[in-house]
Amino acid sequence: KPSPVKSAVFSVPSYACQRRTTLENHNTVLTDALSLLAENAELSDEDGRGVAFRRAAAVLKALPSAVMSISQLSGLPCLGEHSLRVIKDIWENGASSEVESTKVSERFKALKVLTGIFGVGAKTADRWIREGIHDLHQLQNSGQTLNRAQQAGLQHYDDINQPVTKAEACAIEEIVEKAVSSVLPGAQIILTGGFRRGKQTGHDVDFLITHPEEGREVGLMPKVVSWLEAQGFLLYQKTTRNSYLESKADGPGRPPSNMDRFERCLSIFKLPKMEKQGAKDSQNVTENCLQANQKSDEPECPEAAPDRRWRAVRVDLVVSPISQFAFALLGWTGSKLFERELRRWARYEKGMSLSSHALYDNNQRKYLRASSEEEIFAHLGLEFIPPSERNA
Ligand code: CTP
Ligand code: MN
Ligand code: MN
Ligand code: MN
Repeated sequence: KPSPVKSAVFSVPSYACQRRTTLENHNTVLTDALSLLAENAELSDEDGRGVAFRRAAAVLKALPSAVMSISQLSGLPCLGEHSLRVIKDIWENGASSEVESTKVSERFKALKVLTGIFGVGAKTADRWIREGIHDLHQLQNSGQTLNRAQQAGLQHYDDINQPVTKAEACAIEEIVEKAVSSVLPGAQIILTGGFRRGKQTGHDVDFLITHPEEGREVGLMPKVVSWLEAQGFLLYQKTTRNSYLESKADGPGRPPSNMDRFERCLSIFKLPKMEKQGAKDSQNVTENCLQANQKSDEPECPEAAPDRRWRAVRVDLVVSPISQFAFALLGWTGSKLFERELRRWARYEKGMSLSSHALYDNNQRKYLRASSEEEIFAHLGLEFIPPSERNA
């Protein structure tokens, strides 16, 4: 198509951590298509393909305007043959045949539904599909043994698959703040994950907890969880203790996987519904919640009660010692691709190993300290990118 206006060729650096990616996306049709193929690859145990599609989508998210012609894409990084074919297909035919056929495929639909259950990953979903289980009804009638997380996930399926709003995240922040300051005065919490990046909704709410005096945070999580449990705020929780020191045997600055080893709690919160007028009086949110949770005559099937006064929300809590706080904050703010790209940059461009605990310089053979995210970017030789511009 000849374009009357000559469109500029875009220029974008190749690592997502070198770019500013806001939530303003001028190419959602293309990035939605590539993200769906990424998701399908990840759900099909094809992580390499998944990352390739994620990187391609991220490059398009970083463009300052909508792509007007294919020629503008020449020279852009991370757009492989496959991604370019998808883009061309959308360009020429209005839609990508691969994306459209994936969307309606029984396998993809089943993988989406089953991994929508908290506690069910791609491997479990795949096994169930091979046994003929494609939806929740078939799962419930199958006699499959579900672990505690999966049982809770199934029980609260609809709530958990409904996006969490910023207002709900703030209400939960207040509750967690109250829990933390009750069990350890002086401890601090910070909202991380997508909400720290400025998103208006999320699939969960993520918090990082620390204390300004090193060591005071030890043993904090079980106390916070007990407080929350006693107040009736938890529908489910699984706490994992800190195993960072044990892992040092694995090698300096090289945790064996991308999983960090902080004390953490994956939970499902019981968040009392916020009354529209009362919600403005933010000081009273915790009080209102406490009152609502005290009238708890649990019905057999909690989600079935039509006038129930609460909803289930996924919440992740992580405790970090202050000495690792900057790394934990950077690591838990995301996006997932931004984090992956930071680690890749560190390793291949700087000879360093970055984790949510530390930064190790393989050449100098020493750990590089940092007490802020800015210092970590500086160690990595990167321009500082604020959270709102890490939406790769
Ligand atoms: N994360 C992590 N280890 C995990 C799970 C998550 O380090 N086991 C990090 C991710 O890398 C991400 C952050 O925690 O940077 C938040 O993860 P998640 O809640 O899954 O994603 P969000 O970006 O918050 O997106 P959403 O709004 O959908 O929750
Ligand atoms: Mn713009
Ligand atoms: Mn999150
Ligand atoms: Mn999370």
